[in-house]
Amino acid sequence: MKAFKLKEPELNVDNLKFNTKQVHAGEPRDQYGALIPPIYQTSTFYFDSTDAAVAEFGDFMDSFAYSRITNPSQEYLEEKLAAIEHGRGCVAYASGMGAITGALFAALRQGDHAIFVKAKYSGTEEVAEDWFSRFGIEIDSFSAERLDTDLEPLFRKNTKLVYLESPANPTMVLVDIEKAAKIAHSHGAKVFVDNTFATPYNTNPLDLGADVVIHSLTKYIGGHGDILGGAVISNDDDFIRECKLGTLMHFGSVIAPFTAFLACRGLKTLGIRVKQHNENALKIARFLESDPRIEIVRYPFLESNPQYELAKKQMKGGGGMISFDVAGGLEAGKTVINSLKLCTLAVSLGDTETLVEQAAAMTHTMIPKETREAAGITDGMIRMSVGLEDPDDIIADLKQALDKVRPL
Ligand SMILES: Cc1ncc(COP(=O)(O)O)c(C=O)c1O
Repeated sequence: MKAFKLKEPELNVDNLKFNTKQVHAGEPRDQYGALIPPIYQTSTFYFDSTDAAVAEFGDFMDSFAYSRITNPSQEYLEEKLAAIEHGRGCVAYASGMGAITGALFAALRQGDHAIFVKAKYSGTEEVAEDWFSRFGIEIDSFSAERLDTDLEPLFRKNTKLVYLESPANPTMVLVDIEKAAKIAHSHGAKVFVDNTFATPYNTNPLDLGADVVIHSLTKYIGGHGDILGGAVISNDDDFIRECKLGTLMHFGSVIAPFTAFLACRGLKTLGIRVKQHNENALKIARFLESDPRIEIVRYPFLESNPQYELAKKQMKGGGGMISFDVAGGLEAGKTVINSLKLCTLAVSLGDTETLVEQAAAMTHTMIPKETREAAGITDGMIRMSVGLEDPDDIIADLKQALDKVRPL
């Protein structure tokens, strides 16, 4: 069979801008000259001899031996993600929760203490609240809006990490990552940031002092609602090794080669998609704010947002997520959601389609009402993942649904 000997491109991706990086970082030269790298749909890799196998098994970080640990399709994705998040290393997992638990269990041991921001994804909340005690790990939590006063007193001698999510799901509360990192580092603790809502296009937490960035690739990075994936990115080589040869290899939450391929394909258009999500969401948030039937709108880039200055400092755009309360609480919210024709009632986010859900009735039902309320999740709150449709069509859909609650 015809094969090419193509020289590796002399490209230093570090000097490239975001949109160029997302296209070119991690792209290998294929032996047959294929522009798009093939999917390495294999569970194992062969060796020339037993001696070679022993040498290869010596370090899984640098070789391909078994796809639960490393696979070329997985590796292209990891290189791309590390490049756009300004990290040296990345480990891809089978889902966002795979990445979150992979990172946390790589970092924490029995007898450790961790501090979590109150407003965060319900799955993370459940792991922290219900699972850590089984392993002898203690936790505390603080409110992002009271970071200045509430974080510092929580540190103990055994505090290993501070876990942040910004903007938070579903309340859209931001955490000042730079400030939190300074406080945590002064106590010798690491800072982990779930950057799923912001995306690497809007925020790069490692540049703000964070030590570890986590993504659900299921959302904006995949971008088309057709995969589940997660990733952990860091400049700490030892930590990356602990994730890869520890939680990935032993817990087995591995991203499939085809999924990694789809995530790479999604990644190539991340910048242009998120730029449009930012524009569409701002227009829709402004409409919602102007409508008398809406009680409150939470969107980082609205001037009325109490965290607007922080949003401008830490984000390039406000992102594609909005949450709002319809006047009339749970029932009014349900009427709006059930009357929408274009927007789809579904959990998840970051897709081309606009998705809506009611957190208290759907994604956050497992969280007790008092904990939900303490985290700012009201019963009537609607979370909207603004898609890539024309925003005027979404606004028209919202108007007709709001008319069902009370015509203007
Ligand atoms: C902020 C955030 N982090 C993590 C996750 C978990 O991701 P996955 O569903 O890919 O496991 C989600 C899911 O909605 C999320 O919203």
